[in-house]
Order: sequence, then C-alpha cells, then structure tokens
Amino acid sequence: MPNLGDEFPDFAAETTNGPIKFHEWLGGKWAILFSHPADYTPVCTTELGVVAKLVPEFEKRGVKVIALSCDSVEDHHGWVKDIQNYSDNSGSWPYPIISDPKRDLAVKFGMLDPAEKDAKGLPLTARVVFIIGPDRKLKLSILYPATTGRNFDEILRVVDSLKLTAEKKVATPANWKHGERCMVLPSVKQEDTGKLFPKGVEVVSVPSGKQYMRFTPQPE
Ligand code: BEZ
Repeated sequence: MPNLGDEFPDFAAETTNGPIKFHEWLGGKWAILFSHPADYTPVCTTELGVVAKLVPEFEKRGVKVIALSCDSVEDHHGWVKDIQNYSDNSGSWPYPIISDPKRDLAVKFGMLDPAEKDAKGLPLTARVVFIIGPDRKLKLSILYPATTGRNFDEILRVVDSLKLTAEKKVATPANWKHGERCMVLPSVKQEDTGKLFPKGVEVVSVPSGKQYMRFTPQPE
C-alpha cells in the first residue's frame, strides 16, 4: 500500500468510461479512489449509490471521484442499473468504476481482504479510500474490511480538513466540521500567532501549564 506522502503510482485500467491512465485522469486535481470487494454485493450497492448522490458535494470541493471493483466492465455496467434503481439515482452514471478482474491493482495497492473470498477462493478487495492531492501525493488512506460499509459524510469532512490544513498552519480537532474553530499547529511559535491568525488565538490552560491547546476561528 502506498504510504502517506508518496506519489500515488500511475497505472492503466479499463473503466466504465473507457480506458484511463491514472495520472492523466487526475489532471492535477484532488481525487478519491475507493475500492469494493465485488459487483452485485449488497453493502457495495449502498455505498456506490450514496457516492453517486454526493458527487455534487465532491465537485463543489474540486475533488474527482473514481471507484474500483474486481469485476469486468460489462459486469459494472449491469450492476450500475441495479445501483441506480436501488438508490433512486437516474440519468447518466456520474463517476467511473475501474475494472480489476485479476486483482492486479488490488494486489499492487495492498487492498486485499484475506477474510473475504470469492467463489474460487480468491481474496476480495477490501474497502480502501485513498485521497490524492493535486501534487499526486497520497494524503489519506483508510482501510475497512468488506463487511463494514463506509460513512461518506466522514470522507467529505476529511476532504474539508485536508484542503484547509494543506494551505493554513492549522489542524482540525476531534469531530471538527467545516466552519468550526481550528487548532494552531504545534510548530507555530506563540510570537508568530498574531500575524498568522488575525482572527485571534485562544490558549486554553491545562494542568501542565504548557500552552499547546491553541484555538483559532477557521481561517479564510
Ligand atoms: C457487500 O458488499 O455486501 C459484501 C461484499 C463482500 C463481503 C461482505 C459484504
């Protein structure tokens, strides 16, 4: 599996939108690649439907979306009809689905879930989320087992945090949501906070007396 900060490897693949070369497809944008165990499976069907509805939210944030499932493009096209019907999504399908029938990409990117096997006894792809920055570097990876569906509202929240913290010298606290107060990075010297955070910094006192609990309104 690529490590955080690594350039995400380039690869060629067939998708429901035709063949792609991944770096070309990224086009210097933020992107999310999320993987699935197999087509025509119940949890995956709910996940792809939820993401289809969230595509406008990802677009608003300038984030491209692509899924991967270890079946053929032909299977993907048939399955999309079920997903659209189940999730009440009509019209054209809003994001490509990569076909990885031989698990080449799943093996390359460490996505396999040894606990879940297909009819031939081969391990299925786990539920991985990779978020890749405009510099093609891996900004986040999450690995779920096949049996646990993901919370894509959380993925959107994480995108908001990643985009903010890539530009400003802040971190986002537990359960932070867009618009809420942020924390000043520990690496910022107290004497520099006035210049860097014109909205002000509140230092919350703690028993150690150390001044590290520094809050500031979300920077613009
Ligand atoms: C599912 O998507 O429902 C699923 C796939 C493989 C194992 C367990 C659940």
